[in-house]
Amino acid sequence: MGSHREPDNQAVGLVKGNAASNGAEALLEVTDMVVNYGRIQALHGISLHVAPGELVTLLGANGAGKTTTMRALSGLLPLTRGRILLEGRDITQMKAHERVGEGLIQAPEGRGVFPGMTVQENLDMGCYGRPFKQKAEYNKTLDWVYELFPRMLERRKQVGGTLSGGEQQMLAIGRSLMARPKLLLLDEPSMGLAPMIIQQIFRIITEINKQGTTVLLVEQNAQQALSRSDRAYILETGEVTKTGSGAELLTDPAVKSAYLGVG
Ligand SMILES: Nc1ncnc2c1ncn2[C@@H]1O[C@H](COP(=O)(O)OP(=O)(O)OP(=O)(O)O)[C@@H](O)[C@H]1O
Ligand SMILES: [Mg+2]
Repeated sequence: MGSHREPDNQAVGLVKGNAASNGAEALLEVTDMVVNYGRIQALHGISLHVAPGELVTLLGANGAGKTTTMRALSGLLPLTRGRILLEGRDITQMKAHERVGEGLIQAPEGRGVFPGMTVQENLDMGCYGRPFKQKAEYNKTLDWVYELFPRMLERRKQVGGTLSGGEQQMLAIGRSLMARPKLLLLDEPSMGLAPMIIQQIFRIITEINKQGTTVLLVEQNAQQALSRSDRAYILETGEVTKTGSGAELLTDPAVKSAYLGVG
């Protein structure tokens, strides 16, 4: 496979953190988002933003509303109240597949590879909702994904169901990248994986971000996630209770005792 080339539509070469703090140039801007499951309110009006090029983490205990947030952003759950802007455009009423078309891509939850399809076929499914206009662009993106995940190249003819857990997670992320995300949503990509594989997944996420893809990450591995994130939001029972840079939150006493198991 050829040398690395990023997909053209990505925000490559941004000085990281520049547009980070004010939200004025946000790629994603969420205001006062309320989500209900029937009569139960799971999100009580959360606001957050992600600037182009950022890696932002959502941290929170089990049941805090992290998955609900991600699913609402993807269009899988309707908002009771609030607004979602992508590149300044209101997408609150857009259906999930339309958001995919706009480059808002969530990696499949629980890995979710197609077990009977080969690695290559799984990757091809990734561009289903956001087709390539030219074969050359497809080739370029495929090269990029195989470069990030050389293991997938080795195993491109193997069926998804026979991959290890870590490999399936890599395939799930790779498949999302085939859709050339403007914003990649990852909900606990390290879940259930061995420590060494977790390290690898985090390294790859960091690499994807460094190469220009904006990432919103949900993670339980607070130490790993914060140390690699530009910024993070702490979510508690459906509300954002704290936000700051990854470095700030790593040394925050309350964050340390609640999420880092120290202090
Ligand atoms: N389909 C559903 N119907 C009713 N309540 C739900 C549904 N899905 C989630 N909830 C509730 O909404 C709240 C937030 O759940 P959510 O899955 O967003 O949490 P989470 O932060 O992702 O937790 P975890 O870390 O365990 O994945 C929880 O109280 C949960 O029980
Ligand atoms: Mg969850």
